[in-house]
Formats: sequence, structure tokens, C-alpha cells
Amino acid sequence: MISACIFDFDGVIVDTADFHYLSWKRLAIQLGFEFTESQNEAMKGISRMDSLDVVLKIGNIKASPTEKIKMAHVKNEWYKEYLDTVDDSIILTGVKSFLKDLQSHNIPYALGSASKNAGFIMSKINISAGFSAIFDGNDTRYSKPHPEVFLKGASALQLDPSKIIVFEDSHKGIEAANTGGFVSCGIGEADILYNAKYVIPSLENFTVDSLHTLLAEKE
Ligand code: G6P
Ligand code: MG
Repeated sequence: MISACIFDFDGVIVDTADFHYLSWKRLAIQLGFEFTESQNEAMKGISRMDSLDVVLKIGNIKASPTEKIKMAHVKNEWYKEYLDTVDDSIILTGVKSFLKDLQSHNIPYALGSASKNAGFIMSKINISAGFSAIFDGNDTRYSKPHPEVFLKGASALQLDPSKIIVFEDSHKGIEAANTGGFVSCGIGEADILYNAKYVIPSLENFTVDSLHTLLAEKE
């Protein structure tokens, strides 16, 4: 029996994955190499500094710790430029109504994101209110696939991870959920999120009833 939900942020609550990708791509171009959308898949769910390491490895570029901090800062400034003009239209289809449905069934939910920008974006689009707890990249020491961010959520919800379903759009995030003992639900393509217990294409038209139907498929 599931008693609560934990949501990842980028790619689950909001449509920001492209902004991350475009900012990394811009950095790669500045450094003199190409960075493709399929290479970007591995960056979903991991921290900014871990993502930078992936990008630098692709470009075969060595950088000192100080240079890396500068590069990550530049990438984040570009990312924030994209965010400057956004409004709540970046909330993914189905999210608001699913959250509302969870509230009306008294099912609590929390946020577990690797992003240090999650709190800022949440207040910008006015979505924080119903969350019982919000943990993001500012609260954690370890990046996904480490389960730390989700375990913090479980302890704030005062529930065993096995009672919580984690919604994630990244392979690494699903790995984090599985390692932490949570029930994992991938949002996206089953061939990328093959490590998830359940996979749904999106939260569009997803309700508490759909959740129960999904859970009944494999118990
Ligand atoms: C999320 C995204 C990643 C991003 C990470 C850090 O997990 O999926 O693509 O790199 O957060 O985000 P930040 O906003 O702190 O740079
Ligand atoms: Mg994500």
C-alpha cells in the first residue's frame, strides 16, 4: 500500500530539461565541441558539477577545480536566462490536477530534486504550497543515483520508503529510488527507464485512481 509520493522536479513537475540541455550545449560549443541530445540523457538527474564532469569528458577537456567552478557558474547563468521569462506554463501537463487529486485523497507528497534552482523555480511558478517537504540540491551531499534526497523526503514524511512511490524521468533517479527501497515509477520512455518498477508516458490524465490501477498491475 502506497501512502505518499515523492516527485523529482526537472522533467517531472516542470519542462526544464531542454533549458539544461541548451545551456550545456552552449558551454560545449564555447569549448569547441558538439554535445548531442542523446549524450544529454546521461545528465538527467545528476548534480551540476557531476554534469559538468560528463560534458568535459565528452570534449576530452581537462580543467582545474577553479576553472570548473567558473564553467558551472556560466552554465547556470545561461540556464537562469532561459528561466527569466518563464511562467507556470512550464508546469508539465497533468501535474497540477494530479497534485490536486492527491490532496483531495489526503495523500501527502514531497519533492526530491538534484537541482539547486528547484526552490527558486517553485516559488516563481507558485507550486510549492501543497508539498509536505521540499528537498533539492542545496540540501544534499550526494547526487543521484545516491538515494539521499529521497531518504530525506521519506524521513520528513515519516514513512518507510517502501510506502512511497517516486516519480522520476531519469535513469539515475530511478536507480536512486530503487536503492533507497522506494517504489519507482518512471515518467517517459520504457526503453530508457527500464530499471523502473512502473513506467508511464506522462502525468497527463493521471489520477489517484490511475495510480491504484497501475499499482495493482504488479504487487
Ligand atoms: C536535475 C536535472 C539535471 C541538472 C541537475 C542540477 O537533476 O535533471 O539536468 O543538472 O538537476 O540542476 P541545477 O539547477 O542545480 O544546475
Ligand atoms: Mg528529472
